[in-house]
Amino acid sequence: MRFLFLGDIVGRPGRIAVQDRLPRLRDQWKLDCVVINGENAAGGFGITEAICDELIAAGADAVTLGNHSWDQREALVFIERQDRLVRPANYPKGTPGRGATVVEARNGARVLVVNVMGRIFMEALDDPFAAMERELSACPLGEVADAVIVDFHAEATSEKQAAGYFLDGRASLVVGTHTHVPTSDTRILPGGTAYQSDAGMCGDYDSILGMQKEEPVRRFLQKTPGARLEPATGEGSLSGVAVEIDDATGLAKAVWPVRLGPHLSEAVPPWAQG
Ligand SMILES: [Fe+2]
Ligand SMILES: [Fe+2]
Repeated sequence: MRFLFLGDIVGRPGRIAVQDRLPRLRDQWKLDCVVINGENAAGGFGITEAICDELIAAGADAVTLGNHSWDQREALVFIERQDRLVRPANYPKGTPGRGATVVEARNGARVLVVNVMGRIFMEALDDPFAAMERELSACPLGEVADAVIVDFHAEATSEKQAAGYFLDGRASLVVGTHTHVPTSDTRILPGGTAYQSDAGMCGDYDSILGMQKEEPVRRFLQKTPGARLEPATGEGSLSGVAVEIDDATGLAKAVWPVRLGPHLSEAVPPWAQG
């Protein structure tokens, strides 16, 4: 089976890129399952119910979140009725919503989708490793789940790599989100888990992390309060990873970085393709 994971959608350019390109990709690439991080989908901050519904209509089987989960307060309410929307599993007990969900892929496979948040240079939540252990033990690969996708939402690449090796052989894909910058360490770990430290973002790359450049640059020059950060408004790109999974084991057979759209280089120079 084939999966596509897309990194954090930032504002309207990211949403439009998903709506314009994903339905065709689902068919052309024969994708069985698509997971998208939507934590910045609403004007760069959080997600609304209408936007979540749009992403699902465009072809997302599940939508994951992160430190911006609750920036749109309505998410605290509608997450209870939207079982395809997943927030970090290591929020304290009693937090609305769920940290994992099982979706049925197009080929009928049961796919466990887990979201956790790192603790290095981030808000201190419960232990993300214990949370992953709990979610994967409740729905083990090869027993209850036919495939497992883990979105590790974190700042530090060391913590993300630790998550990859911690779950190696128990997840189909461990992919990082949150930094909005795609890393070029796409690979399959020794136990068969596909891995990339950060999926990158879906949004306008002529920006700073998807936001208009002027205010972030100014903040580095002058330490004074300024304007609100606003998403950039140019054409958005898609960024993430595509994985081919062995139906028998649920482990990865192949993994590729996906970068589609303006301002992002292709993975190979054009003279390599002639
Ligand atoms: Fe983000
Ligand atoms: Fe984030």
